[in-house]
Amino acid sequence: MKKKGLLIILIGSVVLLLVLKFYPPSIPHSVESRKECVTCHDLNGVKPYPSWHATRGYRNTDCTTCHHPASGISK
Ligand code: HEC
Ligand code: HEC
Repeated sequence: MKKKGLLIILIGSVVLLLVLKFYPPSIPHSVESRKECVTCHDLNGVKPYPSWHATRGYRNTDCTTCHHPASGISK
């Protein structure tokens, strides 16, 4: 019985860490004046996106389906 409880806690922690790791970061800057995401975020950009973005071929119009401006950022 005790072991079962520990197992549940262990699995819960792993799931939580994975969710935090793979949660898309919010956008810390304006998106209104920076619509061309890929010019700064492709693999050679100032702040490169993860390489799996390139593998999936994400383009400027795809980014904001997952990434949203951080609260307090005026569009
Ligand atoms: C002019 C260059 C530029 C453009 C265009 C741009 N960004 Fe950024 N972005 C940056 C820089 C530089 C950072 C680094 C963090 C900062 O600004 O404090 C950043 C940070 C980010 C981050 C946070 C990454 C992290 O690890 O927390 C995300 C997400 C992001 N941008 C998404 C976007 C999206 C989506 C677009 C298009 C709507 C976009 N960016 C357009 C320059 C740009
Ligand atoms: C299907 C959802 C999805 C789409 C679409 C998407 N991203 Fe991401 N992005 C994520 C996730 C999840 C992470 C964090 C996990 C990781 O780093 O692999 C991430 C991480 C990032 C980071 C942070 C990289 C770092 O090293 O800190 C940047 C910058 C970024 N994305 C930019 C973009 C840009 C620009 C686009 C559009 C061309 C885009 N993303 C499209 C889900 C997405």
